[in-house]
Amino acid sequence: PPPPRRRVKPEEIVAPELTHLKSQISLLCSTNLPGLDKTSKYYLEANGKLFRPMVVFLMSRATAIAPKQQNWQRASAELEKTFNSTVAPSEILRDTNPDLALLSSRLMPVDILGPAGVTAAGGVQVLGTQRRLAEIVELIHTATLLHDDVLDHAETRRGKPSANALSGNKLSILAGDYMLGRASVYLARLRNPEVIELLAEVIAELVKGELFQLQNTAAGASAAIDFTSKPSRETYLRDSLEYYLEKTYLKSASLISKSCRATTVLGGATEDVATKAYVYGRNLGLAFQLVDDVLDYTSSNEEIGKPAGADLELGLATAPVLYACEEFGELGELIERRFCLDGDAEKARELVHKSSGIDRTLALAESFCDTARQAISSFPSSEAKDGLEEVLEMVLTRKR
Ligand code: FPP
Ligand code: MG
Ligand code: MG
Repeated sequence: PPPPRRRVKPEEIVAPELTHLKSQISLLCSTNLPGLDKTSKYYLEANGKLFRPMVVFLMSRATAIAPKQQNWQRASAELEKTFNSTVAPSEILRDTNPDLALLSSRLMPVDILGPAGVTAAGGVQVLGTQRRLAEIVELIHTATLLHDDVLDHAETRRGKPSANALSGNKLSILAGDYMLGRASVYLARLRNPEVIELLAEVIAELVKGELFQLQNTAAGASAAIDFTSKPSRETYLRDSLEYYLEKTYLKSASLISKSCRATTVLGGATEDVATKAYVYGRNLGLAFQLVDDVLDYTSSNEEIGKPAGADLELGLATAPVLYACEEFGELGELIERRFCLDGDAEKARELVHKSSGIDRTLALAESFCDTARQAISSFPSSEAKDGLEEVLEMVLTRKR
């Protein structure tokens, strides 16, 4: 049997990187337009979980000593030089953004990074470019939250008034767009076409995921799938589990999976390592959302910090009810009409709890976590690799 896993705290392993990110990230979207400045920074400065940057940092460290592409050493030195230059970008882009002065301080001295562990190039474990990637990832994520709260008419986020409640829809939308614009500038400055493509694709996929979801709600039903063309209800339900997983990838796993790959690309990892990082992120993201969808059935408002049971109220059929329908066929009709009649949501909730839907969803989440663990099993042993494994455990056991 494999030796028992060492228990570690992932957020502590990359604490120096996270502290650095927190101190820098708002500057990336600083502007002298006060309304825009305030709204773009509002969620960035609201003590978010920084889950995505944490995973990017762990992946950066875990792959720092993994096999490297040939010639990576020279290419990497060049890239870091461009990245650290305060002159080139401003000349090329005539950018007057105040963050430029800070570019030269992007690389932290080695001693702040904790225990040594050097890359093939003899550099630090987390490169300046990888730090910047983590910041870009958080900027994109935060932009989606600004837009999401407008789409969802959310009044609160993380227990505080939402940005749209404070500043209105227009400023929220514009601030989200502005952040995407800034993120794109920083992405371009990484001077790596594959990484630019990965993150640009993520932005498109996030939009598609949101649209997939919208088509599945009562409000979006008019634009929804044409049920009449489906041969049978069984086919529709099987399809809809596939549809649900596709939606889940786009909305919840695309960003984390493609950023895991992107950080290994910046680190000069081989194609094999980059693919493994992607598979880890993809399965982690899927498991994360499946657990989220279970918590919507099993937690109270207080526990998850947002209204529980919201999915059925919105007309959303997630994995627990899709599985439950295989045992209680009568759910099919309710799913098709998106729980829009009085009592539908309550009936569905009751049947989900009677069925094995929740257990089967959790079993699926576990199998995704197993695949993720397997994907990185060939990475050299390190504290960061233990951290990536612990993240999988945290996702399965979280209560909120
Ligand atoms: C949160 O979901 C929303 C997302 C993860 C993605 C939202 C995507 C968009 C709004 C479209 C694309 C926008 C950009 C800027 C690319 P949720 O509403 O289920 O979760 P919540 O409880 O956090 O609100
Ligand atoms: Mg929302
Ligand atoms: Mg939403």
